[in-house]
Amino acid sequence: KQRVLSGIQPTADSFHLGNYLGALAQWVQLQDDFDAFYFIPDLHAITVPQDPKDLRKRTKVAAAQLLALGIDPSRSTLFVQSQVPEHAQLAWVLNCITGFGEASRMTQFKDKSAKQGTEAATVGLFTYPVLMAADILLYRPHRVPVGEDQRQHLEMARDLAQRFNTRFGKTFVVPEAQMIKGTSKIYDLQDPTSKMSKSAASDAGLINLLDDPKVSAKRIRSAVTDNEREIRFDRENKPGVSNLLTIQSALSGTGIEDLEKGYVGKGYGDLKADTADVLVEFVTPLRAKVDEFLSDQAELDRILDAGAERAREVSSRVLAQVYDRVGFLPQK
Ligand code: TYM
Repeated sequence: KQRVLSGIQPTADSFHLGNYLGALAQWVQLQDDFDAFYFIPDLHAITVPQDPKDLRKRTKVAAAQLLALGIDPSRSTLFVQSQVPEHAQLAWVLNCITGFGEASRMTQFKDKSAKQGTEAATVGLFTYPVLMAADILLYRPHRVPVGEDQRQHLEMARDLAQRFNTRFGKTFVVPEAQMIKGTSKIYDLQDPTSKMSKSAASDAGLINLLDDPKVSAKRIRSAVTDNEREIRFDRENKPGVSNLLTIQSALSGTGIEDLEKGYVGKGYGDLKADTADVLVEFVTPLRAKVDEFLSDQAELDRILDAGAERAREVSSRVLAQVYDRVGFLPQK
């Protein structure tokens, strides 16, 4: 079996619909045919300030959400990044083959550091994509299921894999980003040319999976559309309508063309009401399942401990090989 690997940060009280449709939906599917490694990158989370109590809680809620969405710990390895020290260890080695200019060109770093001010932005934020490359390369996955916003980071991971292989001998698999056509970028409901993100100025365009479904339905009914009346997929000229069609199609399994046909002669109110309905249907049972997984903390800890142990079996061997190739003395 080929391997896949991906991660999702524990930086909010809930995952959002963009996370689910862009990434997590494929995580669940890929478990059938791949040896899957999924993890919660808490080391990445602290590249921006986090309250320690919140971080601990959100890490557990993140794990519970992944389980509730269908990640099955008997088939997939589910773990927390900080419990596998090899990630930080490989990141150091990769930092030492990454160019300063190369890291400076990462658009996500430029955006985030501009928001915080260059003085407030940390060195951790700067080397964030190098740690991400370490996360990936340690497991030699062939594919990395992510949304569009991670494409540049994936490119860097590929570059570093190739560079290390050339310099020290073939060690890493050069991974491919895997994206779902159509949903690799879900847009903000209020600003449908920007991606849906927890760090948008307002929450009005954000759908959190664990929010009260009534709140989410209302946000969908208030989504920005346009001044026409036609329900048609046209990303360029009708970004709001196209986003709603994408969301409804992905959640219901009905193709966009079939949706368009069904809406002939109908209005935006119908599109929004139907989209809100399928969303409510999706999130309602999910919330209950998350609560169930959170109600047994001992079991949750057991799952994550077992996941970290399995992850270390793979990552420790790859790290030992890397240490040897760069010229470090063997460890006892
Ligand atoms: P994160 O935690 O921001 O997001 C998790 C996943 O959700 C995707 N995503 C979206 N997809 C479609 N539309 C959107 N609006 C949207 N917003 C987010 C992201 O692309 C991602 O796949 N750096 C990563 C975490 C990470 C990682 C890794 C991922 C750390 N190490 C190794 C893969 C492999 C991140 O911050 O994702």
